[in-house]
Amino acid sequence: MGIRIKGLRPDTHMAEDQIHIPVMLDRTIELLGPALEKPGAVLVDATLGMAGHAEAFLERFPGLVLVGLDRDQDALEIAGRRLERFGERAHLVHTVYDELEAALESLGIGEVAGILFDLGVSSLQLDRVERGFSYSQDAPLDMRMDAGSELTAEKILAEYSEAELRRIFWEYGDERLAPRFARKIVERRSSRPFHRSSDLVEVIAAATPAAAQRKGHPAKRVFQALRIEVNQELAVLERAIPAAIRSLSVGGRIVVLAYQSLEDRLVKRVFAVGSTSSAPAGLPVELPEHRPELSLLVRGAERASATEQATNPRSVPVRLRAAERLRSAA
Ligand SMILES: C[S@@+](CC[C@H](N)C(=O)[O-])C[C@H]1O[C@@H](n2cnc3c(N)ncnc32)[C@H](O)[C@@H]1O
Repeated sequence: MGIRIKGLRPDTHMAEDQIHIPVMLDRTIELLGPALEKPGAVLVDATLGMAGHAEAFLERFPGLVLVGLDRDQDALEIAGRRLERFGERAHLVHTVYDELEAALESLGIGEVAGILFDLGVSSLQLDRVERGFSYSQDAPLDMRMDAGSELTAEKILAEYSEAELRRIFWEYGDERLAPRFARKIVERRSSRPFHRSSDLVEVIAAATPAAAQRKGHPAKRVFQALRIEVNQELAVLERAIPAAIRSLSVGGRIVVLAYQSLEDRLVKRVFAVGSTSSAPAGLPVELPEHRPELSLLVRGAERASATEQATNPRSVPVRLRAAERLRSAA
């Protein structure tokens, strides 16, 4: 059945299950599945979105209890409708995912059997023009995933120093022209503040040499960088992955789908530390507290199959990493 979602472009009328095709769904089920077979097993979907993954897991594992987190109230509203039929098996919590342990505590849940992170923005967020995530449509410079938080892209463009702007474009956007863009933004805001995404696109386009214009949209990386800064995505993820591992029972499994290299590198680092023995070199026996806490379930990072990439463009950049908890903390 078709539904109309508040705030979407008026011409956007889609079936709820078409809004966001879950990425690498079969593979996430295959990897998390062995931990979820026991009745009453709890899966945390830390990035519930429109519950594409969550719904598939609840269907597939009839004894499963799901805890779905999202910082976006609109996503939770849609997910809530989609998961209504599962009744008490689905608990939805409005929170930022680094608060995962507090969310579980509020539900009286200790350890969990599985955790899924499907990072980044959802198709719903990209489609909601007024959120300002897209450089291709004019909108206020907002970019907040949680409409209740304070920092917006407009505030960053008005208040950050040239050096701070340069740093975020460079670090979070991998933008070679970061110094030039930061300088032009500071020049322009002294006479005309930035309010709309088109104001920013105009300045970036004018500052981009013709040769660089040919390599995709010039504003793409700047928009990505602003979104990461507005939502503090890396700082939050850096706290969230260790918190997630702490919440896993022994034998519990975690899967992370990352769509850009900074996030993937962060996940890789935490998993690498967790899967390495901390025994000092030269000790004749490895003490239990030095044994690795994690075992990696895939070698390196897995990509979506060619078929999936051809049918779901969102899956093209994805990197999947997965691990199992081997022992409790020392
Ligand atoms: C890619 S979508 C998830 C899509 C979902 N797997 C599905 O199949 O429908 C990512 C979701 O994570 C949420 N999100 C991103 N960062 C978050 C954070 N730090 N805390 C909680 N939710 C977050 C976004 O609001 C978005 O709804």
